[in-house]
Amino acid sequence: MSDERGFGTRAVHAGLNPDPTYGSVIPAIHQTSTYVQERPGEFVEDYDYARSANPTRAALEQALGELEGGHAVAFASGLAAEHALITQTCQAGSHVVMPADLYGGTYRLVDKVLARWGLRFDLVDQTDLAALERAVTDETTLIWIETPTNPLLNVVDIAGVVARRRKALVAVDNTFATPANQRPLELGADFVVHSTTKYLGGHSDVVGGVAIARDERWYESLRFVQNSVGAVPGPFDCFLVHRGLRTLHLRMDAHARSAEAVVELLRATPEVSDVRWPGFSGMVSFRHTQATELAASTELFTLAESLGGVESLIEVPQAMTHQSVEDSAAAVPPDLVRLSCGVEDPLDLVADLRAALAACARAAEGVRL
Ligand SMILES: Cc1ncc(COP(=O)(O)O)c(C=O)c1O
Repeated sequence: MSDERGFGTRAVHAGLNPDPTYGSVIPAIHQTSTYVQERPGEFVEDYDYARSANPTRAALEQALGELEGGHAVAFASGLAAEHALITQTCQAGSHVVMPADLYGGTYRLVDKVLARWGLRFDLVDQTDLAALERAVTDETTLIWIETPTNPLLNVVDIAGVVARRRKALVAVDNTFATPANQRPLELGADFVVHSTTKYLGGHSDVVGGVAIARDERWYESLRFVQNSVGAVPGPFDCFLVHRGLRTLHLRMDAHARSAEAVVELLRATPEVSDVRWPGFSGMVSFRHTQATELAASTELFTLAESLGGVESLIEVPQAMTHQSVEDSAAAVPPDLVRLSCGVEDPLDLVADLRAALAACARAAEGVRL
């Protein structure tokens, strides 16, 4: 689909061609592990075995590539996509510059898995471009950006990092922003990764990931590792993510409206401090001395890990999603609360949080009396 069409048009149509056999507007889900061959070695396109290729996966990859402006390779999870990207671009001894505030699982992958194979890394606050410039040397192979960051929602200037990259490749985890708000390849990054589990799938019913390369050579390299390691998503999971993509633009607008309403309440609540929202997307974080009690007191905001689905979630990162950064330079404060604002009626979300905040205030008052 032409790049000149609006993002919403591309989100609805990307990667979808009606089924040539029966004309179904949505192509069939190819739930198969293998494909018939006329004679040994004679098969349709590259469809010989489903780890190597699957039409449902190919349709999703085409759509994701179109929306980010590159060539996409789908994986079974966001972390599988990250692992593929880092292991293909780096080798033992390579130096990677990581953000000082990032998803705990990404830190665990680098610190506990890849460091054992000789990867070297430094954590740096990437909102400070001078600090980033000091951390990047001619030996740096990869700069890993996450923006907005999880869970502190810091926003990194992607073009500013690209301008200071020296010889390094630049990869951006675009999970929190999505291509509806930010397209890193257009800002000079070499790669984008997503946990498609989150906003792209959008309905909390699938785990998946994708790595997208600007350059076709790197795309081939990612496809090679996709097949060699085999962390591929199943056809039904690909179908679910693809279906989610079709409403991405609508959902992202609704998530932002919910977040805006919630932020207004939080900023007017004396017990709440350090309210963070990048001004787009549905992710909000803030500090509250009774973080644990608050997270256990909401009704509409479900207490659960993950984010980006149509329903609102609340969590305490230090005790949940970010346990793997405990005692590291990327550790998060224990009183931090993270919200994933869904697409419910914003007034109901505000009322739910207001009631939970009031319950916490009453409990604190009771303790003081
Ligand atoms: C920013 C970010 N990147 C990557 C991941 C990993 O994705 P997955 O859980 O699909 O492996 C997550 C998961 O929460 C995340 O928040």
